Amino acid sequence: MQIRSWLRAGLLAAAAGVALHAGSAQAQQGSLVMYCGVQEEWCRAMSIAFEKETGIKVAMTRKSAGEIYAQLKAESSNPRGDIWWGGTGDPHLQAAEEGLTTEYESPMNKDLNDWAISQWKAAKKRTIGIYAGALGFGYNTELIKQKGVPEPKCWADLLNAKLKDDVQVADPNSSGTAYNLLATVVQLMGEDKGFDYLKALHKNVSQYTKSGAAPAKAASLGETAVGIVFVHDAVVFAVQGDPIKPVAPCEGTGYEIGSMSIVKGARNLDNAKKFYDWALTPAAQALAAPAKSYQVPSNKNAPIPAQAPKMSEMKLIDYDFVKYGSSAERTRLLAKWDKEVKALPK
Ligand code: F6P
Repeated sequence: MQIRSWLRAGLLAAAAGVALHAGSAQAQQGSLVMYCGVQEEWCRAMSIAFEKETGIKVAMTRKSAGEIYAQLKAESSNPRGDIWWGGTGDPHLQAAEEGLTTEYESPMNKDLNDWAISQWKAAKKRTIGIYAGALGFGYNTELIKQKGVPEPKCWADLLNAKLKDDVQVADPNSSGTAYNLLATVVQLMGEDKGFDYLKALHKNVSQYTKSGAAPAKAASLGETAVGIVFVHDAVVFAVQGDPIKPVAPCEGTGYEIGSMSIVKGARNLDNAKKFYDWALTPAAQALAAPAKSYQVPSNKNAPIPAQAPKMSEMKLIDYDFVKYGSSAERTRLLAKWDKEVKALPK
């Protein structure tokens, strides 16, 4: 019922959004440098739609969340980016704490879900939630059957010795997804047991990819039996009929608040604010599903994609975004993972 009324409200607001922007589409309005942290197809859809509505030329680059954070840090004395749109919230929070991004209060805030606003408050107005999604994995149903492995339903099932070299996950230094996994197991199991888990998992990991969603594609193609990803990234391939089953692990799991931040010292600050306000409208958030992105949108009036995994039916942990998005904790956990997990022989 509630989802249905959200859908109706989303359509009305979407129509209003188009009318609002139509008049300004004519003139060339300068440019915007966008660092985009979601899947390429969604990044392109956002750039094209914004450019069309405002006349502002968008120069977009897609990178993983840890990479964008590192880029902002490297460019901090001479910022080149204007807006960082998308990617997991933890590196956005770290960038906020380190003063790499700037405060902004959008008039759209009033229409956002509480979880999006709590991210904004935690960041002292320097980042805001744009979508949410739960962590899990996807497995290739055919490969799992061939290997005689019971269908994995839990994190523990991924330690099965028969899955040696048949699990893929990204590197948490580059990927927000993989950092979310690291922080999730630490919160779910406690730090010692969490690291024991990651060390045991390491035996089954064939490669740590750069991008977080890459293991879902590999699982859908039968290149790996299991890919640890956000559940919505596995759903993309299940929806198109590939033999991949998305799983929200039985022990419980973490989730992300995908975020957006304005770069401190942005050369095109006004355009960054225009993009920010627009990206929080139902019309802009409705561009996700046609671009095969099935996260839950942050605007209460935006339609929730029919394919979006039902987070309310999952056992979600109370993810501590403030702690795991803090500069000290993220830096410490990544260094510990490099030393104690990645460096281990197989
Ligand atoms: O767009 C898919 C997605 O999984 C987002 O939900 C997430 O914020 C982002 O990609 C994470 O990408 P990466 O792990 O490469 O930083």
